[in-house]
Amino acid sequence: MTEKKDIFILGIESSCDETSASIVKNGTEELATTISSQIDIHKDFGGVVPEIASRHHVKNITFILEECLEKAKMKMEDIDAIAITYGPGLIGSLLIGLEAAKTLSFLYNKLLIPVHHIAGHIYANSLVKELNFPLLAVVVSGGHTELIEMTDHFQFKKLGGTLDDAIGECYDKVARVMGLEYPGGPKLDKLALEGKITYKLPVPLKDDSYNFSFSGLKSAVINLVHNEEQRGNPLRNADLAASFQKVAVESITSKVRKAIKDKNIKNVILAGGVAANKILRASIQNLSDELNVQLSIPPMKYCTDNAAMIAAAGYYAYKNGRISNLNLNSKSQDTLN
Ligand code: KG4
Ligand code: ZN
Repeated sequence: MTEKKDIFILGIESSCDETSASIVKNGTEELATTISSQIDIHKDFGGVVPEIASRHHVKNITFILEECLEKAKMKMEDIDAIAITYGPGLIGSLLIGLEAAKTLSFLYNKLLIPVHHIAGHIYANSLVKELNFPLLAVVVSGGHTELIEMTDHFQFKKLGGTLDDAIGECYDKVARVMGLEYPGGPKLDKLALEGKITYKLPVPLKDDSYNFSFSGLKSAVINLVHNEEQRGNPLRNADLAASFQKVAVESITSKVRKAIKDKNIKNVILAGGVAANKILRASIQNLSDELNVQLSIPPMKYCTDNAAMIAAAGYYAYKNGRISNLNLNSKSQDTLN
């Protein structure tokens, strides 16, 4: 019997404000990851400035790639294929990673695997635990809030999503009006631990769909803050954070409950930056225990953008024959399929 050959995938991620490279073995074993985050650079602007982000990707990409290979003690010759985030994301940022991937693919004659950014967030979980189907991916990030059903590897079906703001975007905007620095999500999460649920906020979209809506909740918080300011009432920031979180997390949990029941789900996974949220993690954990389904929650380092998740997804895409040629282009928007 011939021995199974190990597959080494080099992942590259540059869709927003992180430049990252990673080498993953057989889709599950992270050998090395390098990452350069621009959070401190964009903080002063209250959000990511696309042109500035692109310039930093240009500055960092070569160094990030070299350092990753060095860390893994590998050469490009040892790599089987290059997985690249082709979209969705900021177009200028995406193009920097894509050009690097194409150059390496051309120079070293390596296969090029296009990876959807959300597939990456989902497959971050395969670095921790084997995925079990039918699976429900709860995708909660700065740009996405979606419930995705998977019946097998790379078989995605969107059950529902946000009709307006993404959950992370809502967290960041609410945090901003409360005076917290960008990105406000993690700071609001921390602050909520010190607060009590005392403010009454509207529960969004209590319907029978798998959809979400967060703009009404965001506006309700903004109006509440302005009204309290006008009345000269001091704002109890920690209480507001706790009250906001309760409503936001309950809104997600109720739709996840419905999907698990309707679709006979065996495995729930959290994916995306907001998967780092403590209350959401606890709420989905309780729900999974109650309904007796397997839950995979990525460790914090795999929640926010990184190339290990792209390399992991790339391995399964490679197994599915999802290979591209050098005509591959970046897409700022694209559905997961
Ligand atoms: O997945 P990600 O790194 O980027 C996108 O692809 O969007 O997600 C970033 C988002 C930001 O909105 C950030 O505030 C949010 O994830 N986030 C959190 C927490 N940690 C990160 N939101 C709530 N609680 C957290 N602990
Ligand atoms: Zn992301």
